Amino acid sequence: MLEARNLVKKYGELVAVNDVSFAVEEGEIFGLLGPNGAGKSTTIAILSGLLPPTGGSATIAGLDVVRETAKVKQIIGVAPQELALYPTLTGRENVRFFGELYGLRGKALHERVEEVLGYVGMLERADDRVQTYSGGMKRRINLAAALVNRPRLLFLDEPTVGVDPQSRNHIFESVERLNREQGMSILYTTHYMEEAERLCHRVGIIDRGRLIALDAPKRLIESLGGGVIQLGLLTADESVRSAVAALPAVRTASFLMPENADPSQADKAFSAGTQHKAILKIEALHTNEALLQVLHYCNEAKLQILSLDLLEPNLETVFLNLTGKSLRD
Ligand SMILES: Nc1ncnc2c1ncn2[C@@H]1O[C@H](COP(=O)(O)OP(=O)(O)OP(=O)(O)O)[C@@H](O)[C@H]1O
Ligand SMILES: [Mg+2]
Repeated sequence: MLEARNLVKKYGELVAVNDVSFAVEEGEIFGLLGPNGAGKSTTIAILSGLLPPTGGSATIAGLDVVRETAKVKQIIGVAPQELALYPTLTGRENVRFFGELYGLRGKALHERVEEVLGYVGMLERADDRVQTYSGGMKRRINLAAALVNRPRLLFLDEPTVGVDPQSRNHIFESVERLNREQGMSILYTTHYMEEAERLCHRVGIIDRGRLIALDAPKRLIESLGGGVIQLGLLTADESVRSAVAALPAVRTASFLMPENADPSQADKAFSAGTQHKAILKIEALHTNEALLQVLHYCNEAKLQILSLDLLEPNLETVFLNLTGKSLRD
């Protein structure tokens, strides 16, 4: 559906996109995951024909995004990060406007507008002015506008930033439905790793313009090997926490409040007849090594271990491991 080859975008000295290559398969939800300034929006601007690349090339359904921009625009939909809506017009008028840009008229336009407003769950508020909407409602109209030409490939640039949980869920469900029912291919950018994990078949991790990893979320996570160890102890002792945090294979260690503890662990503790006072959450750089070091430390310090659990690592841990920094910095 989409192929990007060695894309480069320079702004003077700054290399915003640095030799980025990837492909999006037909029917795939592909995620671009990266922190602020990584180059996600710039990549989307190039792929949607809004911005000429400094180097490299890209095709969508075999069409060159620079030389055949007009044809490309007929088969893509773009929901930009910066909302492109007219605040004094209603939601319905905004979507109609985008439909007209695509050459839709009369009954076909009317039907399509109602269809996409229904899709994003905005029929009830469609006759209110956009300036009276919440952030999440604006995002949903932004998505409806991107869908009005029934695109084969949809670009969603951070569609859930500043959005209330209800609209957020609605956006997730719309994305999943569009993909499942219409086989729509979707390029989805985010800096929330949970979203990428939930929605995307494959994820490209981008940092400072470079694509530093690309695979299915599960495979990226498996390749890491660094998980989370939860250790049940009698007391939440700060000297224990700092000693564990200082072990070479450990990244961080913190005590969980009882209500945040993994409930499955509480069950186990119950069935084992033990009573937890404190759970130390240990994020490992390398799970096996961290486990050995933690056990060795507990043995030396004569600490009683009440329970021990290994939790799966996530994309946040993958990013941290690749770049040495958090996605949310
Ligand atoms: N028009 C421009 N002129 C100069 N520099 C720019 C321009 N647009 C973007 N940049 C720079 O290019 C880099 C990539 O920006 P981009 O907007 O693509 O990042 P992003 O991954 O979308 O970030 P965010 O998560 O904050 O939206 C940043 O360093 C940014 O400052
Ligand atoms: Mg952006």
